[in-house]
Amino acid sequence: MSTPVDSDSTYEGVPAYDFDNRTPGPVLSHQQHWDRMAASHNGFRSTVASGFWVVTDGPAIQRALQDWRTFSNTSVTALNPDPQFLWIPEMLDPPVHTKWRRLLGADFSPKTAANSEAEVRELAIELIDELSGRGSADVLGEFTRRFPTKVVMRLLGLPEQDLDTFLGWVHEILHLTHEQDPDGSRQLAAIAEVSAYFEEQITARREQPRDDLISRAMTWSIDGEQISHGDLHALCLLLFQAGFDTVPITLGWTFYHFATHPEQRREIVADPSLIGTAVEEILRVYSPVIPARKAVRDTEVGGCPVKSGEMVMLPLSVTNRDPERYENPLEVDLHRTNTDHVAFGSGPHRCLGSHLARLELNVAVQEWHKRIPDYRLAPGQDLQETGNMYGLTSLRLEW
Ligand code: HEM
Repeated sequence: MSTPVDSDSTYEGVPAYDFDNRTPGPVLSHQQHWDRMAASHNGFRSTVASGFWVVTDGPAIQRALQDWRTFSNTSVTALNPDPQFLWIPEMLDPPVHTKWRRLLGADFSPKTAANSEAEVRELAIELIDELSGRGSADVLGEFTRRFPTKVVMRLLGLPEQDLDTFLGWVHEILHLTHEQDPDGSRQLAAIAEVSAYFEEQITARREQPRDDLISRAMTWSIDGEQISHGDLHALCLLLFQAGFDTVPITLGWTFYHFATHPEQRREIVADPSLIGTAVEEILRVYSPVIPARKAVRDTEVGGCPVKSGEMVMLPLSVTNRDPERYENPLEVDLHRTNTDHVAFGSGPHRCLGSHLARLELNVAVQEWHKRIPDYRLAPGQDLQETGNMYGLTSLRLEW
């Protein structure tokens, strides 16, 4: 990430830059970019595509996420104010959004997550056992992407043999750089393939319902009307987006963190009760998600004079690494008592899958360190992170 911290150009009196969040960079460069921008700016304007505002004040970011009356979810992509697709519930506003959240509540409750613990643990152990005797691994390709994707595929009742196809789609939809996909056509092609896939899965369940989320959602109704085929489809697309990439990315950061902080790794191995705090701290410090909203009225937020219809980017990293909110904010502190963070967002769209995500992360860290307690970065790696959602592009460990 190389946005300069000084700009000669301004837009409505606010510094303006050619800032593209899709640009990949060296490990942690995005998070550090936000630290610099937050320290030196009171908001800025990106001139990329039709342009958008970027808020760099921690509390203002959280306020905007909570203020759904001003900041709508009808677009959640800063580069695309008028998307031709719908993700449910992410791209709905209250009151309809609230009705969906109520319907989805039981499948994503703390109790449902807890009930799946044994199965989730078994999946993690199976994959780790395959690796433990090997002495090294491409951890993203062989563990952090496969394990959570399998968990969400089970939740949706999707066949496990489709795992590799899914991993390919996740890459095309979420990780391509501007150079790799300048006009977004590769991303659109992958979205079309995922759509066609879910179409088949929905049709199969209409003929023969099963014990899975898609089948259950078919029986739901809102205001007396059964969920439409299109809405069911939009729900599947969002769960694909939300559930398949975030945990892999966070697990990648976890292994990177403990490989580069051996003293903390030894601490969690000696005292696994620290793993819960470690997971929260890694979520906070590495903060991979950057939400965006569309303003539905003229307003001011974090120094940005926003007009109705304009997009606003709300980097969670800024709130989560805010020196006014945390002591030593950039450090993972295994003994921190204030572990409250916004890595799962804030307000009505706060992550629905947070209980499941926390379970997956805790279980993976526990089981991995029981079997592979001592590891390091394999030498000669040029570690890079993706844009959009910040995750490592690859990570090779040795033990
Ligand atoms: C470490 C893992 C995860 C992180 C960091 C994360 C982060 C987030 C964030 C920041 C949001 C809010 C986006 C916004 O405000 O625009 C969100 C929403 C959401 N997440 Fe997660 N997520 C994770 C895992 C999951 C999982 C495993 C699932 C489901 C299987 C999931 C399902 C959802 C859904 C359905 C929403 C939309 C909620 C709504 O619009 O009401 N997430 N997530």
